[in-house]
Amino acid sequence: MSDSVLQASNEQRRRLNHEADVVVVGAGIFGCAAAFALAKQGRSVLLLERWLKEPDRIVGELLQPGGVSALEKLGLAHCLEGIDSITVKGYEVIYYGQGVEIPYPMNAGAANGDTQEYTNEKGGRPEGRAFHHGRFITQLRKACASQPNITIVETEVTDTVTSTHNPQVLGVVSRTLNPATGEKEDDFYFGQLTIVADGYASKFRKQYIGKSPIVKSKFYALELIDCPLPSPNHGTVVLGDAAPVLLYQIGTHETRALIDVPEHCPTASVEVGGVRGHMRNVILPSLPKQVQPCFEKALEDGKIPRSMPNSFLPPTTQLEKGIVILGDAMNMRHPLTGGGMTVAFNDVVLLSRLLAPERIPNLGDTAAIQKAMKEFHWKRKRLSSIINILAMALYSLFAANDRQLKSLQKGCFEYFQKGGNCIDGPVGLLAGIIRQPFILFYHFFAVAFLSIWIVISDTVGGLLGLWKFPVAIEQSLLVFWKACVVIFPFIFSEMRS
Ligand SMILES: Cc1cc2nc3c(=O)[nH]c(=O)nc-3n(C[C@H](O)[C@H](O)[C@H](O)COP(=O)(O)OP(=O)(O)OC[C@H]3O[C@@H](n4cnc5c(N)ncnc54)[C@H](O)[C@@H]3O)c2cc1C
Ligand SMILES: *[C@@H]1O[C@H](CO)[C@@H](O)[C@H](O)[C@H]1NC(C)=O
Repeated sequence: MSDSVLQASNEQRRRLNHEADVVVVGAGIFGCAAAFALAKQGRSVLLLERWLKEPDRIVGELLQPGGVSALEKLGLAHCLEGIDSITVKGYEVIYYGQGVEIPYPMNAGAANGDTQEYTNEKGGRPEGRAFHHGRFITQLRKACASQPNITIVETEVTDTVTSTHNPQVLGVVSRTLNPATGEKEDDFYFGQLTIVADGYASKFRKQYIGKSPIVKSKFYALELIDCPLPSPNHGTVVLGDAAPVLLYQIGTHETRALIDVPEHCPTASVEVGGVRGHMRNVILPSLPKQVQPCFEKALEDGKIPRSMPNSFLPPTTQLEKGIVILGDAMNMRHPLTGGGMTVAFNDVVLLSRLLAPERIPNLGDTAAIQKAMKEFHWKRKRLSSIINILAMALYSLFAANDRQLKSLQKGCFEYFQKGGNCIDGPVGLLAGIIRQPFILFYHFFAVAFLSIWIVISDTVGGLLGLWKFPVAIEQSLLVFWKACVVIFPFIFSEMRS
């Protein structure tokens, strides 16, 4: 059969028989990219999405340079164009009113042809992009719709179909709206491999992974109009007495504000005006002066701001037959560092390489898939473990709620103020540019030792304070202990299979 005849018959098999090589559940960030990458390799793909209307969500609005790099490798970088996206050149961290600018570092990644490394097609300083999530998703879905090897269906997947004589997944059951009757009807889709990417509230996680996400705070969102940021084209992080606030421009006129509200936050309790009270009384005065009027205006509409849980879910090796669960359904970290989409796109680059037809001609070969998924689990860590650990550890420091964490937070800010490698390293890790986990370890403990030094000098304060030395030692041991407590559990969570 010629390629075009094969392509047409595959299309018919998808449309009429609901059969494909791969069934992808969820046309979100991961699902679209995975469907596109596998289709480009010649696989026949069914992409199932419960809601094809442009989503209106407060997630996935800032893509780090490491994610842009992966999109380029997938041939999807054009999806960032034509959506009024904003170039991101780095971060601005504001600590009790004092700011430090942290630009993305010049290409620190090795250009050795390894598909897992950071590359920058455009050259120059690495750049990220910020945008309205829904517009970006629409672009990704359009790219899939125009791929002849993908058929997109609007249908809500409700269950998996499992073979009767062994536990192999053969496809999915779903409910599709019948436009003629206006009723939802059961539907079936079959693939040699089912890839589930149904997001943070995954329906299939419990059954196939068995872990549940841990949620300790929520992000509440506001949209600010024509807001002058202290450092345009930089993601802004505001630190102070409250948990962190993020500000980044997502369109010519719109700026997203994400306000982290920890569970049981006393200033956000109902008696003192709830989350809106918290925003007005605690957050508003802590923001840079020029941001305050827009923030106040955004609060005026009187509605409770939209929110999303900030989840932590360490990764799991996928050894089921005929099915893999990926994206947020499998692994999540606090969105403070905007790393979710970067992990997802880089996972797709790696996954498509490991599942390439040259390696696995038949996706029904469950033993070969299991082997590939084991390799995937460990290889993805070069990038994902950094982003996961950094997000969780940085959140602990930025939302500091005890004396030792406050010391580490201060140390972290003074570390950034030193500039040079003290900012290039940390932001290179956060951006998905540097992919060596040891470098994270190094900077984290450099911050811890700087914090200890600050504690000692603040406590002793000079020769006359030498008698306070024992107190200073005690304090520094506590800070060091805290630093270990902050980072090691997340490191261990990455070392398990
Ligand atoms: C508050 C917040 C802010 C964030 N900000 C950023 C950021 O700035 N940068 C960043 O990189 N990451 C960010 N993230 C993380 C990022 O949004 C996720 O990592 C990313 O969207 C995960 O992609 P996914 O494809 O796994 O899930 P999603 O993108 O959520 O896609 C899941 C898709 O599956 C569909 N679906 C679900 N169930 C079914 C079903 N039963 N049948 C059919 N379809 C179904 C959904 O409709 C959806 O289209 C943020 C997260 C949060 C919570
Ligand atoms: C679609 O799949 C065929 C094999 O069925 C392959 O030859 C072709 O390159 C693919 N098309 C595109 C546009 O990727």
